[in-house]
Formats: sequence, structure tokens, C-alpha cells
Amino acid sequence: MKILTSPSIFACDVLNIGKEVERTEKSGADMIHFDVMDGVYVPNISIGFGILKAIRGMTNLPIDVHMMTVKPEAYIGVLSESGADIVTVHNDLGEEEKIKTILMDIHSYGMMAAVALKPGVPAEAVLPFIDDVDMILVMTVEPGFSGQSFMDMTDKIAKIKEYIGDRPISIQVDGGINAETAAKCAAAGANIFVVGNASYKAPDMKKALDDIKNAAEVAYNN
Ligand code: DX5
Ligand code: ZN
Repeated sequence: MKILTSPSIFACDVLNIGKEVERTEKSGADMIHFDVMDGVYVPNISIGFGILKAIRGMTNLPIDVHMMTVKPEAYIGVLSESGADIVTVHNDLGEEEKIKTILMDIHSYGMMAAVALKPGVPAEAVLPFIDDVDMILVMTVEPGFSGQSFMDMTDKIAKIKEYIGDRPISIQVDGGINAETAAKCAAAGANIFVVGNASYKAPDMKKALDDIKNAAEVAYNN
């Protein structure tokens, strides 16, 4: 799979979000990661559909929307209208059948679908969804806040990589990712790197993303 970076716009300078999107493009990002938090599923509230649509209006980069809300199923249509390319939902929002229906609904709008696992959720939890997803998000922090310390999920990533086999499914990691932690995750099989603080708060965002991508590429291919 290709190694891709997805800067988490939640960690940008929000007063200058348009400029930050331009800086993201100029820094060579492959995607934009957009965190939606409802204050219920996680103890924080982030950004919503109006901002998503405004960002869509100014960039062609794929936008990967990470839904940290209790009822993602209520927003699939509006996510599609607002320009999401990938929609990620957490596995622990209800019964397996419910999650499967949400993933199918995401696909029915022509978007890519992904399932996310919090740090405490075991690798096996992806098995029921493995034929319904384009990407699996392994959280490397508890969802809710940017700037937390990386939690080592490499064993879980390696197991998931094995389950995936030759299916064209990406493994994304999110939380505390920098060049060093990206390399660890890549060695275990992760290929998409969400980067919040280590990109927007770096002195040189392009260099930060290049370093992460290079470190991950070397580790992934060894
Ligand atoms: C946390 C979010 C992350 C966050 C990452 O719940 O899902 O996307 O913005 O930020 P860093 O890379 O700073 O941990
Ligand atoms: Zn996220």
C-alpha cells in the first residue's frame, strides 16, 4: 500500500483555517484528516459540516472524516454533500449489524468507509467488518484531544495486517504521530499517518511531513 500523510486540521491555527489548508497543500500532504466530535462520544467538541464544506471548496485533497459522535448514521448524507471522501466510524457504537449498515450506507454515497478502534479495543474487533471497509483506523491515543502522547499499538497493527491479507485495505494510525512513532507503526503495517501537532505546530510543516513519510517508507518496506 502507498504511504500517505493526513494532517489533522483540528490541530491547525483555527483563526486562519483557509491559510492552513493552503499550507497543508503546499507541504505535500496527501489527504486532510477532519475530526468531528460531539461532546458525547468523546469529552470534547470540534468542528462541523460548515467548515468541512468550506475546506472542500478550496482544495482537491481527499478529506478523511473521523466521526467521534454517537450517531454517525444521521450524518452520512450531509457528509457526502459537504465533500467527505472517506468516512470513519468507531466499532463500539452498537451491534455489528448496525455498524455494517452504516459502512454500507457510506459506500452507497460513493465515499470510502473505515472502521476505527480505540486503544482498548482488540484487533479481532475488525473481523466482522473486514469485507466492508477500505481503511482501518487504529487509534494511538484515546480519541478526543490533539497533542496527547503516543500509545504503542504495534502488536494490534501487526495482527490487523495479517487479517487483511491481500485485501486492498489501508491501516491508518491517529494520535501522537511523528517521524519516530510513524516508523514504529509502519514497521507493523500501518500506511496512512494522521499528524496533528507534529505537522501544524512544527517550525517547517513540509519538512515535518517529508520526515514522517520517509521514515515510514523505510520502515514499511523493511
Ligand atoms: C484525536 C484526534 C486526532 C488528533 C491528532 O481524537 O482523532 O486526529 O487531532 O492530533 P495529534 O497528532 O496531535 O495527536
Ligand atoms: Zn482523528
